[in-house]
Amino acid sequence: MNAITSIEHFIQYIPKAELHLHIEGTLEPELLLKIAERNQVTLNYQSVDAIKKAYQFNDLQDFLDIYYEGANVLRHEIDFFDLTWAYLEKAHSQNIVHTEIFFDPQTHTERGVAFSTVINGIHRALLKGQEELGISSKIIMSILRHLDEISALKTLEEALPFKEWITAIGLDSSEIGNPPSKFARVFEKAKNEGFETVAHAGEEGDADYVREAIEILKVARIDHGNRSLEDETLIKHIVENQIPLTICPLSNLKLKVVKEAVYHPLLEMLNLGMVATVNSDDPAYFGGYINENFLTMTTALNLTSKHIYQLSRNSFVASFLTQGEKDKWLTVIDLFYEQNHGRIQ
Ligand code: HPA
Ligand code: ZN
Repeated sequence: MNAITSIEHFIQYIPKAELHLHIEGTLEPELLLKIAERNQVTLNYQSVDAIKKAYQFNDLQDFLDIYYEGANVLRHEIDFFDLTWAYLEKAHSQNIVHTEIFFDPQTHTERGVAFSTVINGIHRALLKGQEELGISSKIIMSILRHLDEISALKTLEEALPFKEWITAIGLDSSEIGNPPSKFARVFEKAKNEGFETVAHAGEEGDADYVREAIEILKVARIDHGNRSLEDETLIKHIVENQIPLTICPLSNLKLKVVKEAVYHPLLEMLNLGMVATVNSDDPAYFGGYINENFLTMTTALNLTSKHIYQLSRNSFVASFLTQGEKDKWLTVIDLFYEQNHGRIQ
């Protein structure tokens, strides 16, 4: 490693964990076209440029419509393997050493692709990522909240034979009108089966969605959680209980959850004592992977190496690694900070 003298290098080389990443959201236009051709799926777009042009969103639903359309090209185990492997190579190039990825089984099973096809492809790539790139990983199975409880329960049943591979159950898709309480029984069953739980909340939905996710779904962390800042009592609860928030800055900008980068609440969250982390959500659609998310926030909010260090620490603290694994990485990060922060101009 060269001497680290800039904040850009500090961001690049500090070891990071990514905790909020939809594997279907890493489908880059080039790979989308390649897999579409391989599977003889007809697309509305004929070129990478045409696809990129279509990636303009007014809100979450606008994005989800295109995201589900893109996922439609994924049909075989090799497609899920290729998708996951491409993400891991990118993650490795940005010094992500641990990743916890979401997959949305219903996006695929509803189209007739078997649950096993999806998870076998993802899992095989993650094993290779551990062996060849040294990236550790966890899988989070996410429930589509716009679908009903019966579909969610069926999906949970399908996950049971793969329990060893799945660490947590999550909740994503269209938030407003689909509050966490809709899935109270699903998450209770998931907990009873020994899964951890997380949920997207407070992205477009208000603070009540976050409160429900904590109180009813008993989540270990909140995905997004931006709108928890609208409620003083909730902020106090999140800080006191150190419930982590997985923040996705470029996603927030693209989906107009935050108007401009300078108004992003990331720094405010850190100053409040929240365990905020930086993540890329759906990087192929939102214009950047984890380091671009860090860089955008650093420029807009004047983050220092101390903030980056704190965010990197938070990512391991908030992860589903064992305490021993967390301690190992925290020692590495502490040393990295000690050795490098003084030289940054
Ligand atoms: N929010 C909700 N659902 C999603 C997202 C998101 O940011 N990305 C993929 N599914
Ligand atoms: Zn997300």
